[in-house]
Amino acid sequence: MKALVLAGGSGTRLRPLSYSTPKQLVPIANRPVLEHVLANLRALGITEVGVVVDAASTRIQEALGDGSRLGLRVTAIPQVSPLGLAHCVAISRAFLGDDDFVMYLGDNVLPDGIGGHAERFAATRPDAQVVVRKVADPRAFGVAEFRPDGTLERLVEKPARPRSDLALIGVYFFTAAVHRAVAAIEPSARGELEITDAIQWLIDHGGAVDAVEHTGYWRDVGQVEDVLECNRRLLEDLVPAVHGHIDSATELRGPVVIEAGARVVRTRIEGPALIGAGTVVEDCHIGPGTSIGRGCAVRGSRVRDSVVMDDVSIAGPTDLRDSVIGHGATISLPPSAGPCSLVVGAATRIEPAA
Ligand code: TTP
Repeated sequence: MKALVLAGGSGTRLRPLSYSTPKQLVPIANRPVLEHVLANLRALGITEVGVVVDAASTRIQEALGDGSRLGLRVTAIPQVSPLGLAHCVAISRAFLGDDDFVMYLGDNVLPDGIGGHAERFAATRPDAQVVVRKVADPRAFGVAEFRPDGTLERLVEKPARPRSDLALIGVYFFTAAVHRAVAAIEPSARGELEITDAIQWLIDHGGAVDAVEHTGYWRDVGQVEDVLECNRRLLEDLVPAVHGHIDSATELRGPVVIEAGARVVRTRIEGPALIGAGTVVEDCHIGPGTSIGRGCAVRGSRVRDSVVMDDVSIAGPTDLRDSVIGHGATISLPPSAGPCSLVVGAATRIEPAA
């Protein structure tokens, strides 16, 4: 089986971060979302991965290279404009050939993996197998509707009155039967080739389409709140470890990881929290729910429930919560600012006037 990972798109809901960092490279527990995705695929034994990327950017290719670092062979498939999930399948035809494949949205995080779903697909090989999950408000999702005998009847995009609470999540399994469906459908009202239309075409033309329920954690990191919540959730799985240096005036509580080469001085860290390699933290109060990237300098500050990317400098008396700070940003807030929630893109500077 091959994998097709979708890492193009516009990421409008994650602006301004997505202006400087593609959504799929935002770090969750100090690891890009895309690496969590690829680790799940590698765990299935998959090695051939096509990655759909925005043709105007080389950022994803630079981050992945040929994939060998992750034990994969990665083929980049440039998409000139985000014309929909089924468009991604259409432009990947040469890479996919007639092989079965799993299509995985590159902004979806499923920390428990997709092993059970892949096994079921391999055993039953329907034309398509979608993965659904119970959600509190299905109106924001593609929703699966079932016949009384439990078979899949319809997929409805963002229904005003949902007939089930099972939403489609970003993992789909296909045989080569999907290509005929993708070729048969027309763009939707929003101008995209919708994968739900292709799957509905299969259902309507007598194809075998199954749905499996995912009961574990799932999040797509489409918005800042998702990034923060997902980061908090993945930090909970941390196995505490101190590979860097902490001084005797530093206090660690709960699950805390200090990566190699990091130096923590006169600081209180409440886990779950992660301090990246080579980062210096002095006279701070960090966490819980916080990951600080690599090569950062954080001095005299408080940071909680936040994601701080690599090479960031934060100077006191900055007090951050529910913040996402892009690569290489410099933040120094005056005492009068009080606790702040910031979302800043890469290389941004926020400093008091000289
Ligand atoms: P979405 O989150 O649906 O779209 P988006 O990334 O453009 O974000 P926004 O709605 O905030 O503007 O996309 C889901 C995933 O699929 C994401 O990883 C991007 C990817 N994708 C493509 O690669 N090509 C496409 O044509 C589309 C629509 C999405």
